[in-house]
Amino acid sequence: MQKGRSWLHKGFVAFAMMAGLMTPGTTASASAQDAGDPDKGRVLFNQCRGCHSLTAGGPRKAGPHLQGLFSRTAGSLDTYRYSKALQDADFAWTEDKLEEWLANPRSFLPGNRMTYLGMRREADRKNLIAYLRAALDANTQSE
Ligand code: HEC
Repeated sequence: MQKGRSWLHKGFVAFAMMAGLMTPGTTASASAQDAGDPDKGRVLFNQCRGCHSLTAGGPRKAGPHLQGLFSRTAGSLDTYRYSKALQDADFAWTEDKLEEWLANPRSFLPGNRMTYLGMRREADRKNLIAYLRAALDANTQSE
């Protein structure tokens, strides 16, 4: 676990540097903070992991797995029985959509079945999304 984590973190830092978000020697520039902190996000993901695996091959849980989420259309896995609300949803998951969903799942897609009240703080949502980005990219690479 420890090993995987530090690999993930390094991957994210390398990505952030490539994207020009960080310059070597600066640990937390303002823009890196805007992008969210994946280490904090990993802890926040504890709120989701009871219901969501990060990989298609992970344990079956109440919610759909999240592998490849950022290139998926909402409600599109054949292996999961979604509510009508998600089946009828006609958009692809982007960071913006995910942020809206996490802020208030019920008002974002009325009638959905995800029993989660929402993540109130914007900073938390950004951190969680930064973690998901890094963790889900790592999944794709290891396949
Ligand atoms: C109590 C269980 C539960 C928790 C906690 C939960 N979810 Fe869900 N999630 C679900 C269920 C069930 C669905 C499918 C809802 C439907 O079909 O209406 C879902 C759907 C989703 C989807 C849509 C996926 C798709 O294929 O379109 C995303 C994204 C998602 N959840 C992310 C999260 C994140 C991130 C968290 C943590 C902040 C979280 N969920 C917390 C149960 C949960």
